[in-house]
Amino acid sequence: MSYQPLQGQKALVTGASSGIGAGVAVALAAAGAEVVVNYASSVAGAEKVVDEIQAAGGKALALKADVSNEVEVAAMFSAMFAACGTIDILVNNAGLQQDALFEDMTLAQWNRVIGVNLTGMFLCSQLAVREMRRRGPDPALSKATGKIICMSSVHEIIPWAGHVNYAASKGGVKLFMQSLAQEVAPHRIRVNSVGPGAIQTPINRAAWDTPEALQALLKLIPYGRIGSPEDIGKAAVWLASDDADYVTGQTIFVDGGMTLYPEFADGG
Ligand code: BGC
Repeated sequence: MSYQPLQGQKALVTGASSGIGAGVAVALAAAGAEVVVNYASSVAGAEKVVDEIQAAGGKALALKADVSNEVEVAAMFSAMFAACGTIDILVNNAGLQQDALFEDMTLAQWNRVIGVNLTGMFLCSQLAVREMRRRGPDPALSKATGKIICMSSVHEIIPWAGHVNYAASKGGVKLFMQSLAQEVAPHRIRVNSVGPGAIQTPINRAAWDTPEALQALLKLIPYGRIGSPEDIGKAAVWLASDDADYVTGQTIFVDGGMTLYPEFADGG
C-alpha cells in the first residue's frame, strides 16, 4: 500500500466527473480519503471515477449538484454528511469556460462562468467551514481542523484576452482564497489554491488536439510538456496532508513554468 497521509478523512471534490477533478478524486482516494465525486451532469463520468477508485480498493460515492445553485449545494452536503458523517477536505474544483470576444460576450456567458467558478466556491466553502467548526479538530486524523483547496489557474495572474469572464473568475478566486484563509486560520482551517497551467483535459482540447495547436501551446511552457491531471492530484494531496500543515493562503502553480513569462527567455 502506498503512502496514505489522508487515511480516514472525508473529502468532497466538486466537478470530479472528468479532467482535473477526476484526477484529484483518484489521487485523494489513493492517499486514503473517502471521496465524494460531485458532478453537474455527467453521471456516467462520475460513476467511472467511483468505479476506478473502488477497483483500487478505495472508497467513493457520486453526488449530483450544480455548485452555483444554493439549494443543490445544500442537498449535496446533507447527503455527504448522511453517508460520510462529516467533511475534512473540500476541493473546490468545478469550473468551466464560455469563451467569447469581449464585445460579443453575453451576460449569460459572464454569469455562468462567475457562477460556477467563483460563487460555487463561496457556497461550498461556507457549508464546509460551518461543519468543520461544528465538528472541531480530530488530532488522530489531521493537525488541521479542515482543509480547503481551490482550483484556480495560471489565469489568476496571467490576463487572457477572449476569456475575460474566466480570467475575472480566477482573479476573484485568488483573493477569495486568501481572504478566507486569513479569516479561518485561527480555527486551524487551511485554505490554499492550486494554479494549473495547461493540463490535457476536455476544457482545453482545442489547444492540444492538433500538432499545430500543441506546438503553439508548448511555446508557452518552458518545461516542454503539457500537464496531466496526475500532476495536479499530487499537489492537492500534499496541500491536504499534514506535510503542508504550515501552508495556508498560498497558490501553488503547477504549470511547467507557464507563469515565468517564457516570451522573455530570448526577448525583452
Ligand atoms: C484553462 C485552459 C488553458 C490553461 C492555460 C486553464 O485555466 O482552463 O483552457 O489551456 O489555463 O492557458
